[in-house]
Amino acid sequence: MDFSLSEEHQMVQDMARRFATEKIKPVAAELDKTHRHPEEIIKEMAELKFMGIAVPEEYGGGGMDYVSYVLAMIEISKACASIGVIMSVNNSLYCYPVMAFGTDEQKEKYLTPVASGESLGCYGLTEAGAGSDAAAVRTTAVRDGDGWILNGEKKFITNGNVADYCVLAVKTEKDQGYKGISTFVVNLKETPGFSVGVVEDKLGILASGTAELVFEDARLPGDALLGKEGEGFKQMLTTLDGGRIGIASQAIGIGRAALEEALDYAKEREQFGKPIARLQAIQFKLADMAMELDAAELLTLRAAYNEDNHLPYEKEAAMAKCFAADAAMRAAIEGVQILGGYGYIKEYPMERHMRDAKICQIYEGTNEIMRVVIASRLLQGK
Ligand code: CAA
Repeated sequence: MDFSLSEEHQMVQDMARRFATEKIKPVAAELDKTHRHPEEIIKEMAELKFMGIAVPEEYGGGGMDYVSYVLAMIEISKACASIGVIMSVNNSLYCYPVMAFGTDEQKEKYLTPVASGESLGCYGLTEAGAGSDAAAVRTTAVRDGDGWILNGEKKFITNGNVADYCVLAVKTEKDQGYKGISTFVVNLKETPGFSVGVVEDKLGILASGTAELVFEDARLPGDALLGKEGEGFKQMLTTLDGGRIGIASQAIGIGRAALEEALDYAKEREQFGKPIARLQAIQFKLADMAMELDAAELLTLRAAYNEDNHLPYEKEAAMAKCFAADAAMRAAIEGVQILGGYGYIKEYPMERHMRDAKICQIYEGTNEIMRVVIASRLLQGK
């Protein structure tokens, strides 16, 4: 077993770290304050191939592996968790399903613009009544000539207010439970009957838009169906397995930022005549943060390694996402505690890390659902 990074992985990590430090970190507080979609940064990330890291070069991607994806996601999210999730959704939840389930023609048409970063993708599964119970979607698609007519609303869609394309889960057969769900790939800018609904006012990841997608007799062309009718639910769950590796990486990035800033502060801040880093109460917090983040990173790299090597990774991704999200939340809470009053004010980024960490325990499957997934696979002997 070799725990060292290959030269190629080291290069991706260095490139992401440099870009994140020089281009993202200096503007992260402003993005958080203004809730602005960082279009210019996303364009630069596209040039580095970060918007379609694991997509083959022939479809505009970086032709890299999922370990590279994890390493880049950690560095980007460490500087700005909002940009981390924009990148993760584009890579894992849009590019992956089009690459895995699309025909060559669909990949040419729907994958290349998004993997190259020229356009942005999003993923429409969640609805007002379909969150953890993903099979309860009610948006419908019915055949109309050689196309489809779509009706319904998707909720809490990351990138939904700015995306050009969407991978969408809808019911094509009403009474067949999850077997009636199909996946469509939609060019949102060229779909009559589509509009963006409410853009949510959130607690964290404020530079990443979260919006409703509204379809009112929206017409899709025949080539919008991804794979076969009725395969949508399993396609969506497979997609989320990979997405959870992205969110685990985002969480690790947030946690690492909290640890780094807490360490710097503890070495500088003097109380009782010495730096607070000399107090065991502070040292124990720093030790726990580091220990949990290292464990989260190992779990996440294992899941990515399995995905790269065509080994099962559903349970491994759920473990990574759940553990990393909890570790990030604890790191950010302890980070605020170490900074004391300074952790609670907006002059320092620590309070942002705490707000940003929370969503990692909620989206792409709550941490309760992660435990459901892990336990169900254990009980199946997997
Ligand atoms: N891959 C492929 N197939 C899978 C699968 C997977 N990971 N998990 C289950 N399946 C299959 C099962 O084998 C079963 O097939 P058979 O009937 O042929 O055996 C079928 O799917 C149904 O499985 P379940 O009965 O287990 O399904 P369920 O309805 O009980 O739901 C669940 C399972 C794990 C709870 C699932 O609904 C789930 O993951 N829910 C959470 C949804 C979620 O993560 N939403 C995130 C939204 S996106 C987001 O958050 C993005 C963002 O903002 C950044």
